[in-house]
Amino acid sequence: MKHFISIHETSTQEINHILDVAFELREQRNNGKANAPVLDGKTLAVYFAKPSLRTRVSFQQAMFELGGKSIVLTNDDAGIGVRESEHDVIKVLNGMVHGLAARVFEHSVLTNLAKHSEIPIINALSDYSHPCQALADVMTIIDEFGREDLNKRTITYIGDGNNVALSLATICGKLGMRFVIASPPGYELDSSFVDRIMSQLPDMDFELTSDPMQAVHDADVIYTDTWVSMGQEKEMEKRKLAFEGFQVNQAMLDNAPKHAIVLHCLPAHRGWEISDDVIDGPQSRVFPEAHNRLHAQKGLLAVLMGGM
Ligand code: CP
Ligand code: NVA
Repeated sequence: MKHFISIHETSTQEINHILDVAFELREQRNNGKANAPVLDGKTLAVYFAKPSLRTRVSFQQAMFELGGKSIVLTNDDAGIGVRESEHDVIKVLNGMVHGLAARVFEHSVLTNLAKHSEIPIINALSDYSHPCQALADVMTIIDEFGREDLNKRTITYIGDGNNVALSLATICGKLGMRFVIASPPGYELDSSFVDRIMSQLPDMDFELTSDPMQAVHDADVIYTDTWVSMGQEKEMEKRKLAFEGFQVNQAMLDNAPKHAIVLHCLPAHRGWEISDDVIDGPQSRVFPEAHNRLHAQKGLLAVLMGGM
């Protein structure tokens, strides 16, 4: 495994290996033991063309806890594809650091970087996908339901067919989970993305609907994300209207199995896609999910850069 750019390009075996390492490192940490410094002498450059809390902190803390270092590059510093071409940026970084995690608008920036890269390229979110989030989401699902019976679980995503939804759908397919997505007309997962998933995973149990109340009926996990992703701020009012009826709230949970848990990648727009009582309520696992970002990142970095 050279890069981590999408779940689509990562095999089920590779996903499971990253998860194994992530759980092992988390257990050591939870037992008060330091992790082995498998990234001693290694540096990860972390680039953000968009804001971040969880992704930035988890990458930097993960490098620190595994004995490595990190350097944060903002758009003002590095302007990948703006100040310099992807080609020139990565040719420079190849000779200085041992990995690059990049948050970008256009996914092609990542694939262009990877073309000339001698170091691992990690997708820290693009307009197309958010694979690091999907790793933490699966850890949280396993924490709740165990690893053995994943193929009996239904993950229901309510809202925008966006980057988070795509990576979640794909990882669910790769790990044998059923995936249901309810979106308003015009905001569904792009049909070419669905075709791509289905061509790779023809046996996947995948359902698309525009009825959120019906969608949660047999959900083990109810997942939502913002209606307005970074870069879509100008569409805010239009989107707010389009997503009416798609809020994950108590009325929706009343329509779902009592054991269902609620996930959200964060940041949340409380009172829009999710109500306060649900995000802070007993079925929410949103903050353990955020904490799993650290552990998932450690698993990923230990595998990609530490030879684990
Ligand atoms: N979930 C997530 O990626 O959060 P940040 O945008 O804060 O990194
Ligand atoms: N879909 C959101 C996810 C944020 C972590 C966005 O792209 O802004």
